[in-house]
Amino acid sequence: MTKNYDLVVIGGGPAGYAAALYGSAAGLKVAIVEENKIGGTCLHVGCIPAKELLETASVLRSVRQAKDFGIAISQDPVIDLSISQNRKQTIIDQLFAGLNSLLAGRDVTIYSGTGLLGANRKIEIQQNGETEIIQGTNVLLATGSTPRTIQGFEIDGKTVMTSDEFLSIEKTPNRVAVIGGGAIGCEFASLLNDLGSSVTLLESLDEILPGCDKDVSTAVRRSFVKKGIDIQTGVQVEGHEGDAEKTTVSWSDKGQQNQLEVDLVVIAVGRAPNGHAAGLNDTEVVVDEKGFIEVDEKLRTNEKGVWAAGDVVNTPQLAHVGFAEGILVVKEILGESPVSIDPSTVPWCIYCDPEVAFAGLTEESAKAAGYTVAISKHRYSGNGRAMIIGETEGLVKVIAEADESGKAGRILGVHMAGPLVTEQLGQAYLAVNLEATVDEVANHIQAHPTLSELFGETVMSLTGRSLHG
Ligand code: NAI
Repeated sequence: MTKNYDLVVIGGGPAGYAAALYGSAAGLKVAIVEENKIGGTCLHVGCIPAKELLETASVLRSVRQAKDFGIAISQDPVIDLSISQNRKQTIIDQLFAGLNSLLAGRDVTIYSGTGLLGANRKIEIQQNGETEIIQGTNVLLATGSTPRTIQGFEIDGKTVMTSDEFLSIEKTPNRVAVIGGGAIGCEFASLLNDLGSSVTLLESLDEILPGCDKDVSTAVRRSFVKKGIDIQTGVQVEGHEGDAEKTTVSWSDKGQQNQLEVDLVVIAVGRAPNGHAAGLNDTEVVVDEKGFIEVDEKLRTNEKGVWAAGDVVNTPQLAHVGFAEGILVVKEILGESPVSIDPSTVPWCIYCDPEVAFAGLTEESAKAAGYTVAISKHRYSGNGRAMIIGETEGLVKVIAEADESGKAGRILGVHMAGPLVTEQLGQAYLAVNLEATVDEVANHIQAHPTLSELFGETVMSLTGRSLHG
């Protein structure tokens, strides 16, 4: 007899396991099919390991700064990356065990193997030459994404790596070229620079961090350059030639040829969706030419009862967007008519130094959408807590809709670069998504002295009055 579930999830990353946990909490009988490890890219080769290594870099910066606080360190700090790697793995193992026990505790059946969706929401699970068929009244495709690479750069795990391999390095490379100046490229460039590598960041567009507000990307660029990261924008990377020890990367910059010998090339040029990973033969599911599964705003595919969520659909490729999408699908299945997710207002957090966090429209995108805007920017250099922790670089920028008189109203976007901004985004995200006005937010008290009072100060100055602005 074919086993039947209310919901079968194919893919156990953030979108898949969120749907499984939330669905089972809501009383659905759920199965999840995973060919590798529950937790997906985020837990095993993405967010969690990257942030652990970036925390190591942060501790190193603090130790180097200790003398400013009168704490004498008798020698330059020495880093043993293998210890940080072990620590990283312990964190992953703990989270992995926790996730499995949560799923087990909620009676979610986990199938190990590759799940292939066919007609009538039947899923064939293949593992080690054996197959089993299960059926879902509803099916969620959450097959994720894999790192993209570029022509001329074979991933060998020695001199050429993507994030998959890089996050397990045991030794700090001396000279590195990071190709791609997006979220991953900037996090890795920042990490390597802190660890002591000589870093060149090669980006094909005219600025790093595409999608960020210009003031934010400029702040990060300035800070990176000050730290000694060589940023080359508007370049065309052509190829490389070398061996397992070192290689020479070639690129052109407005017609001028450049070459650089490095010990490691890290490719961070985006992630490709695994749209075809679940077979989908004899279904109406449509996969577009980029590999994304086509869905409507409720994440429904073309096949009745089949949904898709996470990196495999064309929405921001962020773990927390995957969580939100998994939850949305469950609510849809339960007939609760949830509000769709607006991709332009999701929170973004990038953990380079300085950190970047934002939600909502940038100044450019707000103007392009036809808004008349009022803008306020405040720098951390005037913030007491920032001075106390010794990290005064960066800014908060608030973009609000303005009326004909220029008076600021609804907050459209908040963009931050600076100390621990990833932990400060919460209230800004709520303000944008609750469509709060600057007057409403300015009425609230910000604790003092905090880093986050800079957000309150920036909003207050849009009311026409301020304390320190
Ligand atoms: P991305 O799309 O954010 O950035 C890729 C960058 O590479 C772009 O700036 C692009 O212009 C550049 N590029 C593309 N081809 C190139 C070439 N041939 N030569 C030079 N530059 C080239 O992708 P990224 O950074 O790889 O991240 C993948 C996904 O993972 C993103 O969608 C991101 O949202 C997500 N992510 C988010 C993080 C966060 O929010 N903290 C951290 C890591 C990843």
